[in-house]
Amino acid sequence: MTIALGPLSPASSTQAAWNRKHLLGLEDLTREEIVGILDTAESFAEISTRSRKKVPALTGRIVFNLFFENSTRTRTSFSLAAKRLSADTQDFTASVSSLSKGESFIDTARNIEAMGADVMVVRHPTPGAPHLLAQHVGASIINAGDGAHEHPTQGLLDLLTIRRAKGRIQGLTVGLVGDILHSRVARSNICGLLKLGARVIVCGPPTLVPRGMERLGCEVAYHLDEILPECDVVNVLRIQFERQQKGLFPSVAEYSRFYGMTQARVERGKDDLLLLAPGPINRGVELTPEVADGPHSAILDQVTNGLAVRMAVLYLLSGKLEPKGPASDAVPVA
Ligand code: CP
Repeated sequence: MTIALGPLSPASSTQAAWNRKHLLGLEDLTREEIVGILDTAESFAEISTRSRKKVPALTGRIVFNLFFENSTRTRTSFSLAAKRLSADTQDFTASVSSLSKGESFIDTARNIEAMGADVMVVRHPTPGAPHLLAQHVGASIINAGDGAHEHPTQGLLDLLTIRRAKGRIQGLTVGLVGDILHSRVARSNICGLLKLGARVIVCGPPTLVPRGMERLGCEVAYHLDEILPECDVVNVLRIQFERQQKGLFPSVAEYSRFYGMTQARVERGKDDLLLLAPGPINRGVELTPEVADGPHSAILDQVTNGLAVRMAVLYLLSGKLEPKGPASDAVPVA
């Protein structure tokens, strides 16, 4: 299937190389596929600066957001990305659905597919839920975060933000700091950063860093102040209070004292230290407000880049969608 983008034409050679129906995790992707998504996202980032931001790539397609967990950035970003590609979009909100009457996850998705969904963007608290759906429906599935497993588009937008700020990823030292244990963002970052040649150090309290991280290819540290001078980038992960049991660290104040990104810590880092945080942020816990809003912070750039990444992912997957019937201007007669 050829998507006519006319003069916009992002990375057509990338689409030719793209051969996947789903995006379930960065663990599955090759280095070339990740670079292909980032290059395609660059083209869409450029399109987003134009006065006419809409392209016809997904005309006639239906993109459903199936969110079984709350979201601000991911859900709205996918909605807007789909609209910019001229798709019809629909949000499904689990809390007001017939799940409360006992309908299963798979039956819910199959009913949504029966309405014509071509793409389902799925966030679920259970690791592997999007993978399960990919086995039971014909639509393309995009993992928008599955428990503590993966959040591939967050990993991709973090990579794009680093590459845009630093001009490369190869050879950079990236610290992932905080709640590694409960973080799907950490897993997607580790997979993507290592494939693109970065050195990755995970750092947090021993209770929040799972054993065996070295086997993935990253280094492990427990003292932020020791690794900070080596880092080109620090990605500050949120303490996932909703996922963790009590007692994994003595108190929030103590966590902030040892792992919080303060102005004093920023000043002990490299002059061009880049700070990322996937959001939502707990101001005063993982980082102080002056750091979150300061010159080293790329937090809002990440959100902007997320839109381009999600347009790129939808665009690339669209080449693998089932063909639709021919378009017709005929008005159905009752
Ligand atoms: N970073 C992220 O996934 O944010 P939301 O939970 O708001 O989507």
